[in-house]
Amino acid sequence: MTLSIEEVNRLKHAPKIEGVLPLFHTRWSPRSFSDREVSPADLEKVFEAARWAASSYNEQPWRFLVGTRGSETYKKIFDSLIPFNQLWAASAPVLILGVAKTTFSHNGTPNRVALYDLGAATSYLTLQAAALGLATHQMAGFDPEAARKAFAIPADYLIGAVIALGYQSEPAALANEQLVAQEVTPRQRKPLKEVMLSSWGAAEGS
Ligand SMILES: Cc1cc2nc3c(=O)[nH]c(=O)nc-3n(C[C@H](O)[C@H](O)[C@H](O)COP(=O)(O)O)c2cc1C
Repeated sequence: MTLSIEEVNRLKHAPKIEGVLPLFHTRWSPRSFSDREVSPADLEKVFEAARWAASSYNEQPWRFLVGTRGSETYKKIFDSLIPFNQLWAASAPVLILGVAKTTFSHNGTPNRVALYDLGAATSYLTLQAAALGLATHQMAGFDPEAARKAFAIPADYLIGAVIALGYQSEPAALANEQLVAQEVTPRQRKPLKEVMLSSWGAAEGS
């Protein structure tokens, strides 16, 4: 049985909660991307959103290497991916590598929250993408040192994650049954009581 894009999105939709922005519940990470290119204007909007994330000392330690299909940048990011991710990410028209500067510009001291800030900016990026009807899928499955070498990224920058971005396609377009099965599995999250605590190990309000 194959599901349409609309059907799979319905299945991935988190239960609606009154007062929570719908985007948080509709965004998910597909692996099936269509051939459709992303316009430069939409791509810019996604990074415009990321740019306005909060960061320690307003350092804005994030840097994004952005590769569109056919470019040298795209190839370098793609080549760093593990084979499993290459299998599906090849269909994404945009590949992004997130990098974080680990020292503060104002005094040169270490910024221990640089990756945290990169993650925050990346979350903004994924939500703005969703607002534009674009899908994103973040990846830790790549060789960070291969990426560092390919782009000559200096040692004081930490390599974060790769993000595939583009328009979603049907689950049936994926390369094998395992990928299709994962694409149509409902999303799961820990219950709030496991993550919202009043003291270590104790649920808030208990
Ligand atoms: C930092 C990070 C690394 C991830 N690495 C991979 C990866 O290498 N390959 C992959 O297929 N999915 C990867 N994912 C996707 C997660 O599995 C996915 O976000 C998670 O299961 C929650 O699903 P959702 O984003 O659809 O809500 C990664 C996600 C994040 C945030």
